[in-house]
Amino acid sequence: MNTPIILVNFKIYDEIYGIKGLELARVCQKVSEKTGINIAIAPQVIDLRYIAEKISIPVFSQHVHNMKPGNGTGKITLEGIKASNAVGTLINHSENRVIISDIESIVKKSKELDLISVVCTNNISVSKAIAMFNPTFIAVEPPELIGGNVSVTDADPDIVKNTVKEIQAISPEVKVLCGAGIKNGNDVRKAIELGAEGVLLASGVTKAKNPSQVLEDLASGAM
Ligand code: G3P
Repeated sequence: MNTPIILVNFKIYDEIYGIKGLELARVCQKVSEKTGINIAIAPQVIDLRYIAEKISIPVFSQHVHNMKPGNGTGKITLEGIKASNAVGTLINHSENRVIISDIESIVKKSKELDLISVVCTNNISVSKAIAMFNPTFIAVEPPELIGGNVSVTDADPDIVKNTVKEIQAISPEVKVLCGAGIKNGNDVRKAIELGAEGVLLASGVTKAKNPSQVLEDLASGAM
């Protein structure tokens, strides 16, 4: 997966249900094509296939369960994600935590299925523990800053810098993203200066009056 990357998590915001999710996905694709910056999305899980088959930018699931296909009503499997044309999944988002033994087995199985794993973490110690599993990405997001207006890169630049440093010492091939409160190109620029290979964000795009303008600004920070 090319970096820098701007990964937009649609969460389950009111603004992205049904057709609105597809519209936002198309805006993300247009800006990615125009700027040449890798913009990926994690739409509502219920829209995963519907969106993934209509656009060409990378699509991620927002969550996955550590389950084999079979009995498991309502669960999300890696096999289902793969069959939906998505390229990977977020794991352990702060709004949907997963126990550590399940994270390990999901990361392992993602590799077997050639899926990209993006494991979210809340601090440096947890990031270090997850680095042992060698996911594709670790996205460090202080939960208290999520959904707010202060970017992690301003509120706590050290968490980004030190997560990168500590993870490099454990598993140099794991790429670090940061998230929480990211809103503009300056935030992206700082994230990259601090050593991150991109950002994970949600409200800055999903709640924007003009998502296209915001995405272009975000992309400018990655150039
Ligand atoms: O998954 C990204 C997220 O948790 C950050 O949310 O709204 O602070 O960009 P937000």
